[in-house]
Amino acid sequence: MSQPDEPTRIAAPQAEAPRTLVARYRAVRRASEALARALTPEDQQAQSMPDASPTKWHLAHTSWFFETFLLEPRLAGYRPFDPRFAYLFNSYYEALGPRQPRPERGLLTRPSVADVIAYRRHVDEAMARLLATESEDALRPLVELGLAHEEQHQELILMDILHLFAASPLHPAYAPPRRTATVEVTPLGFVAFQGGLTEIGHAGEGFAFDNETPRHRVWLEPFELADRLVTNGEWLAFMRDGGYRRPGLWLSEGWARVQAEGWEAPLYWRQAEEGWLEMGLHGLRALDHAAPVSHVSLYEAEAYAAWAGARLPTEAEWEHAAREVRSGGGEFLGSGWLHAAPATPGPGLRQMFGDLWEWTRSAYSPYPGFRPAAGAVGEYNGKFMAGQFVLRGGACVTPAGHVRPSYRNFFYPHQRWMFSGVRLARDTAPGREPAQPDAEFERDVLLGLAKPQKSVPPKYFYDAEGSRLFEAICELPEYYPTRTEIGLLRRIAPEIAAEIPGNAALVEFGSGASLKTRVVLEAAPQVAVYAPIDISPQALSAAAKAIGRDYPGLALAPLAEDFTRALELPPQARGRPVVGFFPGSTIGNFTPEEARAFLERARRLLGDGAGFLVGLDLIKPEPQLIAAYDDALGVTAAFNKNLLGRMNRELGADFDLEAFDHRAVWSAAESRIEMHLKSRRHQDVVVAGRRFHFVVGETLHTENSYKFTVEGFARLAAEAGWTLQRAWTEAQPAFAVVLLKA
Ligand code: AVI
Repeated sequence: MSQPDEPTRIAAPQAEAPRTLVARYRAVRRASEALARALTPEDQQAQSMPDASPTKWHLAHTSWFFETFLLEPRLAGYRPFDPRFAYLFNSYYEALGPRQPRPERGLLTRPSVADVIAYRRHVDEAMARLLATESEDALRPLVELGLAHEEQHQELILMDILHLFAASPLHPAYAPPRRTATVEVTPLGFVAFQGGLTEIGHAGEGFAFDNETPRHRVWLEPFELADRLVTNGEWLAFMRDGGYRRPGLWLSEGWARVQAEGWEAPLYWRQAEEGWLEMGLHGLRALDHAAPVSHVSLYEAEAYAAWAGARLPTEAEWEHAAREVRSGGGEFLGSGWLHAAPATPGPGLRQMFGDLWEWTRSAYSPYPGFRPAAGAVGEYNGKFMAGQFVLRGGACVTPAGHVRPSYRNFFYPHQRWMFSGVRLARDTAPGREPAQPDAEFERDVLLGLAKPQKSVPPKYFYDAEGSRLFEAICELPEYYPTRTEIGLLRRIAPEIAAEIPGNAALVEFGSGASLKTRVVLEAAPQVAVYAPIDISPQALSAAAKAIGRDYPGLALAPLAEDFTRALELPPQARGRPVVGFFPGSTIGNFTPEEARAFLERARRLLGDGAGFLVGLDLIKPEPQLIAAYDDALGVTAAFNKNLLGRMNRELGADFDLEAFDHRAVWSAAESRIEMHLKSRRHQDVVVAGRRFHFVVGETLHTENSYKFTVEGFARLAAEAGWTLQRAWTEAQPAFAVVLLKA
């Protein structure tokens, strides 16, 4: 069980992306040549199988790409380095004519390596002239494609060299061996995801391949994703249990491969007297049991998953989960590790990026609405969309910065010379509590409990039980906001409607059951699109269904998202007048800083000229406020304590709900109701394996509910770029609905 502690530098570190296109072009081209520098000319000439190519060919082909798609069509007076190269170095572009057959690229002893480097210089010098004559903006799409293409070939160079070296009885090492340090393997855990309606695919700024678009909606059933990759040690257990000998574990085509090709282990494992060895870019070395298993086919991954009682994730599940991963992850090529390292212990999903390409069970198919680019360049991706499967996340030989959460790699199910690994997934069984915490919930709770004033963000109140209790709160005689706001909205609905332009999109933040929305929709038939945003997919789909039934002419664009995150308008809402809707005084559950940041994000999302209707609970006498948050029936107390129950259920915590009292206090200085859970005694509580002490009387702060004046809120909104246009108020109990203008 070991992990490298000293990387081998094989290329300039690429962590910092060069800022200009010219600088990026130079850096990527130099990085390719740096990879070849560790090789002899003979190494660069050889080809060990039909799928692989000689290094020399990769270096020439990437230059041919720039020559063909940029220099010839765009640089006046450009003379190709050698017209015969169009045949030698065309990879698969039918529109560009015949080419050297792929399995015979190793026969090209001419041009020499030195000639290929001269070709690269010729192309680089011409590209420098092109980049100096045309604007970066005009060139960027094709140059970025050429650079991303070249980065893909950097990875192919290493894949193909490893295959070549693994076929040699001398087992050459591409890079020197590394010193190693021991690492403990953590038991495999699963992270639970609710699923629901989500979006996948690339959207927004920055380069992406055409196969990552269009971004589109997908529905996910609740699922769980393994928190790390399958290790070599676990794979050994599978083998010892007859994994490669039991047809019942294999897909039919996979089993045929096992027999035809005599598979008994991953591609680069070798059995020796002293035990299993593995061939890698650092040579033939003892198998590292803690490192993730690599160089396995989809068929093997499927058989392993069947053996482990799990399955592979779909690409939509993987991408949905990957968007939660904040840290950079693994050891991309720039780090120089060249080998996937064991998972470092820690909470949440690990090894999602830059360790090994992770097989998904998704066929590589066009996304709904996919259109390949016009011309020969349109052959880049689309024509391969048959018979292959998608892999996600990037590997230790993928250049840093090359992949994104939406990135789709693809291979045939039998192929295994790429750096491919296995992450398990499973369906969340109905009724079963998730096996592992949501990574973000765990992180926020652990951070909050470590503060001098212990706290947990109020957004975590709303699991299924919490949402049910909140609905019950809204019915309580003491809890006036819901009733008061609905009454006010009904009274002012015609005036609100007069402020909504024709064909508008109504975007609601935290829409829940969409009950208040109906008051607006009833009065404003000119609303053409309704885009509710809510974190609960169940609530969202039920509400959207009901609204769809009752307002048949209205286009629906529901978005299952945490509305506090930066979002994009759904396509149906773009290009129309937009009105935001944020009722319930939910804005009062943010601190003033959070409210300002939210209003700024909403301003950006809704766009110039947008309106924004916001419900505000106004300051009122303390007894009325306290009663609303500490009702006689104890529903709010149950709502507050459910947060402890949720931590017990989802984070393996051991809170004794009887040992805490619900408290609601009014802070006049802060103008807010605070909810707390007050410890009745000295006690220790364990949460996600960590121990926290409460002294008697100490509280866990669970919520703020700020109360406003219209003038004070107008000042806050102004700091976020909004102007108060109108305010409608109810006197008793005091409540306001305001209309802001961007
Ligand atoms: C959702 N939010 C506006 C409620 C409020 O009044 O702050 C949450 C709530 N907390 C206790 N009762 C209701």
